[in-house]
Amino acid sequence: MTHVLFVCLGNICRSPMAEAVFRHLVEAKGLSGQISIDSAGIGGWHAGERPHAGTQKILKEKGIAHDTLRARQISPDDFAAYDYVVCMDEENLSALMRMAPSGKKVYRLLDFATAANEQNVEDPYYTGRFSYVYDLVEDGCNGLLEHIQAKKG
Ligand code: 4NP
Repeated sequence: MTHVLFVCLGNICRSPMAEAVFRHLVEAKGLSGQISIDSAGIGGWHAGERPHAGTQKILKEKGIAHDTLRARQISPDDFAAYDYVVCMDEENLSALMRMAPSGKKVYRLLDFATAANEQNVEDPYYTGRFSYVYDLVEDGCNGLLEHIQAKKG
C-alpha cells in the first residue's frame, strides 16, 4: 500500500481538489486497493467543512466525485503514516519542513508535473482562478501516479 497525503493552507481549495482528481485517476486504473489518499491543511480554520464552492464547481464540471471531502488539519502523526506528503507551494513546503521529522522528504505537487512551467500551485482562494488551478493539479496528479507506478515496477 502506498499512502498519499495532499496538503495546502486551508484544505478547502487546492488539496481537496488534488485528492479528488488523484482518486479519480487511481480508480480509473483499478489501483484503489493499492493507494490510499487523503488531504489536510496547514491550518485548521476550516476543519469539518466541505471544499470551497469554486473547487466543488470545477470538480462537478469535470465529473469528479467530491461529496465525501471534509477539511482537516495536518497532525504530526501524518508524517509517519504517509509515504508521500505532497503540498502545493513554497509556503506550504516551509511550514511542513518545520513540522516534519528530520530526513522526511516533502514534495510539491508540481515536482511531478510534465507540462506546467511552474513550481507552485497558486491559491485560488485569493486569485479565483479555479480552472487554471485544476489544470495544474491534473498535470501534477498524472505525473505523481506515473512516478508511484514506476517505483512499484
Ligand atoms: P487552500 O486555500 O489552501 O487552497 O485551501 C485557502 C483556503 C482558506 C484560507 C487560505 C487559503 N484561509 O485563510 O482561510
